Amino acid sequence: MKKNALLATTLSGLEEVLEAELKALGAAQTEIHTRAVSFEGDTSLLYRANLQLRTALRILIPVARFEAEDEKALYEGVRSIDWEQHMRVSDTFAVYATVNSDQFTHSRYVALRSKDAIADFFRDKRGRRPNVDTRAPRLTVRIHIYKKECTVLLDSSGDSLHMRGYRTEKGVAPLNEVLAAGMVRLSGWQPGQPFVDPMCGSGTIAIEAAMMAMNKAPGLLREHFAFQGWKDFDRRLWDELREEAASAVRAIDFEMLAADKEPRATSITRQNMERAGVQGVTVIRKLFRHLEPPQGNGTLVMNPPYGERMKEKEITDFYKMTGDCLKQEWKGYTAWILSSNKDALKRVGLRTSRKLTLFNGPLECKFHCYELY
Ligand SMILES: C[S@@+](CC[C@H](N)C(=O)[O-])C[C@H]1O[C@@H](n2cnc3c(N)ncnc32)[C@H](O)[C@@H]1O
Repeated sequence: MKKNALLATTLSGLEEVLEAELKALGAAQTEIHTRAVSFEGDTSLLYRANLQLRTALRILIPVARFEAEDEKALYEGVRSIDWEQHMRVSDTFAVYATVNSDQFTHSRYVALRSKDAIADFFRDKRGRRPNVDTRAPRLTVRIHIYKKECTVLLDSSGDSLHMRGYRTEKGVAPLNEVLAAGMVRLSGWQPGQPFVDPMCGSGTIAIEAAMMAMNKAPGLLREHFAFQGWKDFDRRLWDELREEAASAVRAIDFEMLAADKEPRATSITRQNMERAGVQGVTVIRKLFRHLEPPQGNGTLVMNPPYGERMKEKEITDFYKMTGDCLKQEWKGYTAWILSSNKDALKRVGLRTSRKLTLFNGPLECKFHCYELY
């Protein structure tokens, strides 16, 4: 099978875990970029990357890279690509752009000019233009501009890969699934050791960890990936890869625990787990300070409230209580806390063994590790 240059995009701070995931899938020539990892792979790896990667948002195929001084050069550059290799004139398409440039400041205009260039390519060659469809296009084209460098990419994923298909019910402030999976990977937790999310909300962290333990591909639940609509879609290969992934799923045979003080949260978590096909995680309604640690040297990953809806004293006391409780009750565990509230985090009062920066949507967060002896 022919190899292509490919690009997996991710969230800030997850580039290294994504690269490790790609290497585990057999990707060659991996290289880390800002919020992305480039790699080389054939069609099988393109499909497997969409199906298996837990920390990727999209898998893109760069089809052209050129320098453009202005919109005219951009238009010419996009129009000179042989679009017939990628779509039929009867296929619908959509174009999106992201710009970080002095020359190009309006991403929508860049997208519009690029769309015209693709349409004009077909009009010149076939006498008619393909239709644009932003809802369910056959081909989604992404234009990335950095300074004068334009990269034209085909989006093989369609909807972002964080949309796994299990979380139709959301609690308060749910985490992006890709962020949750990245946090679990960064925590260094190995399936087989106990895993606890004591403030689980809608269950995202526990579900992502459970799917890792079950060796369940995150894409198995999704109904559609963009490459399934492409003119070169290899249905036989895709069915084979999906069957292989489905038969690799195994049961959880160690303790995993998701807890929350709110009955609504535990109920949503149970429903999301059912939809995700996750079994073997205990879900209980309990205050953190009443929770009993499963035996063994486990890992605790939590995303407590950041305090937007609480008084300052209340939130700092809450973080202090969390720290005290970790120190007294969770000896032998490694605890990780994600929070955007840096002042409150200081009140945890334990020595941090690692400090990472992640983004929960637009919120810059610290992801702190505490070894509890
Ligand atoms: C930011 S939300 C967690 C969101 C979750 N990570 C998700 O993806 O849906 C914080 C959760 O902590 C829970 N919580 C707050 N204080 C708690 C306590 N003392 N014990 C247990 N859970 C608590 C809240 O009910 C809320 O569901």
